[in-house]
Amino acid sequence: MNGERWYKDKVFYQIWPRSFKDGNGDGLGDLWGVLDKLDYIQSLGCDGIWFSPLYPSPGADCGYDISDYMDIAPEYGGMEAFRQVLEGAHQRGMKVIMDLVVNHTSDEHEWFRKSRQRIDPYTDYYIWRPGRDGMRRPNNWDSLFEGKAWAWDSTRKEYYLHLFARKQPDLNMDNPLVREEVKKIMRFWLDLGVDGFREDVITFISKRDDLPNDRLFPVSKGIRFYNHGPKVHEYLKEFKRDVLDEYDCFTVAEAPMVTPRQALKYIDERDGQMELMIQFEHMCADCFFSDYMPTAFSLSKLKKAFTSWQKKLSGVAWNTLYIENHDHPRIVNRYGSTEYWKQSAKMLAASYLFQQGTPFVYQGQEIGMLNWEPVDAGMYEDVQTRWQYAHTRGNPEKKLQKMWRCSRDSARTPVQWDATANAGFSEVKPWFYVNSNYPYINVAQQEKDPDSILNFYRRAIDLRKKLSCVRYGDYTEYDRNSDELYVYTRQDHRQRILVVCSFSKDKVKFKPPRGYHLEDADLVLQNYPDPTEQTLQPYECRVYLWR
Ligand code: NOJ
Repeated sequence: MNGERWYKDKVFYQIWPRSFKDGNGDGLGDLWGVLDKLDYIQSLGCDGIWFSPLYPSPGADCGYDISDYMDIAPEYGGMEAFRQVLEGAHQRGMKVIMDLVVNHTSDEHEWFRKSRQRIDPYTDYYIWRPGRDGMRRPNNWDSLFEGKAWAWDSTRKEYYLHLFARKQPDLNMDNPLVREEVKKIMRFWLDLGVDGFREDVITFISKRDDLPNDRLFPVSKGIRFYNHGPKVHEYLKEFKRDVLDEYDCFTVAEAPMVTPRQALKYIDERDGQMELMIQFEHMCADCFFSDYMPTAFSLSKLKKAFTSWQKKLSGVAWNTLYIENHDHPRIVNRYGSTEYWKQSAKMLAASYLFQQGTPFVYQGQEIGMLNWEPVDAGMYEDVQTRWQYAHTRGNPEKKLQKMWRCSRDSARTPVQWDATANAGFSEVKPWFYVNSNYPYINVAQQEKDPDSILNFYRRAIDLRKKLSCVRYGDYTEYDRNSDELYVYTRQDHRQRILVVCSFSKDKVKFKPPRGYHLEDADLVLQNYPDPTEQTLQPYECRVYLWR
C-alpha cells in the first residue's frame, strides 16, 4: 500500500510565467498576473502550482538558462511579488513548487564567467576539455537543441559541454562544491516556504567520466553516457539526506527516456530519492523519441504506455499524470481532433484524470487551447525550433507545417482570457503572438457555458477528489485490442468506476466489460448530452460509478 503523503491528493496547475497573465502592463506575464488569477486556479479544483523558472535569466531558453538561482526576475515582480503569491497560495491551501534547473546554468551566470577565466573556486564548476589533437571537439556527442554538444570558449581556450543550447553550459556535478551550491539553492527556497521542486532533466546530471565517443545511438549521440549516469543516484541521495529530508516537501524528477524499472530506482517509496517522475512514454504515441520526429498517432502505443506505468508503479511508487506542458504541442492537435475540438478535449481529460497519480494541468489546457500556427518561421522564439527549422531540408511551406506540429512554441502563446484585445492577456502588445482563435476559445466565454471544456475540467477534478477508488483503487484496462477505445476501471473495497474513452471520429459500438452491469451504475461524467448505451459518438467519454 502506498504511504500517505499530501502530494498524492493534489492536482497541480503548471504556470509558464511569461505567457500566463500580464499584471503590470508591459506585455510579459508576471507574478502580479498570477496573484490576480489564484482564485481562478483554485476554482478549477487545483491545489498546487508548479512554476516554470521565475529566476533572472537572459532568456536563451525561456528561463531554463538561469543567471541567478536565489532571486526572482524583476520583470516577473521580484521577491516581493513572489512572497505575496506564495502567501496567497498557502492561504488557499495550495502548495507551490519551483523549477530547479541544475543540470546547467546560463553562460551569463557568475559561476561560468569566473570559470572561463579559471577563477577559483569556479574553475571546475563546468565540464571543460581541451580539443582532441589541438582543435577537434572532445567527443562526438550531440546537444538536444543546437547541433554538437561542445562549444569553444576563446577566453579559457577549451571546450565546454552543453547538452542543450550553447548558452546553457552543463555543470560539473562531480565537483562537491557544485553539489553544495545545489543544496544552498534548495534550502534557500524551502526556507522561504516553497513546498518542493520539479527538477529539470535531473537524470542527466552525472556524465560518464571518460566521456566516450558514441557510435551506436542514432538519435542523439551521447545520451546513453549521461542519461541515468553512473553517480546520479548517489548525488540525489546526498541532496535528500542533507536537505530534503529536513523539510515536508516533495520533488518531481523530469526524466526523458526512462522505463518504469529505471524510474523505480528514483521514486520507489521504500528507498527512492524523489517522489514523482515526469516520464515521456505516453507523450510518444505520435512521434519517435521526441515531438520533432512525428509519426501517425497510435492509440495502442498510448494505451500500452498508460497501462504499463499504472501497473508497474502500483503499490511501490506514485505516477505523475499529465498530457500537456510547455515542451509539447497542444494535446487536442495531437491525440484529439480540431474538428471535434470540444468533445476530444474533454475526452482527453477523462483519459488521464482518473488514473492513479498526481495530475498536472498546463495553462490553457483547461480551455482546450490549440496549437499556434505562424505564417512565417521567423516568428518562432524557441531556440530548439529555430535550430530545427534552419537545419531541416525541404520546401519552406512543408517545413513550416511540420513546425506547427512539432514546435514547443505551438503551446507557448499567451493564455486566452477573454475576447478583448490581446485575448485579455495584456493591455499592451504581448511579448509573443496570440493565437488568432482567441475570440471563440477563451476563459470568459467558457465561464458562461456550463457545457464548456473549462467546466468539464472542473467537474472531472471535483469527481476525482471525491472518489477514493481513484486515489488507491486497482487499475484494470479492458478492450486492449481496440484501435478506437481506451477503457479502464478503478476499484477499491468500497467503489468502482468505469472510464470509457473513444478516440474515433466515427461512431463505435461499446459493450461494458463482463460483470459491469450498467443498470447498477450512475453515469457521473459525460461529454455528450444523451448518451445511447451501446453506441459511442465521436470522441465520446463516460465515467460510470457503481452504486
Ligand atoms: C526541460 C525543460 O522542460 C525544457 O523547457 C528545457 O528547455 C530543457 N529541460 C532544458 O532546461
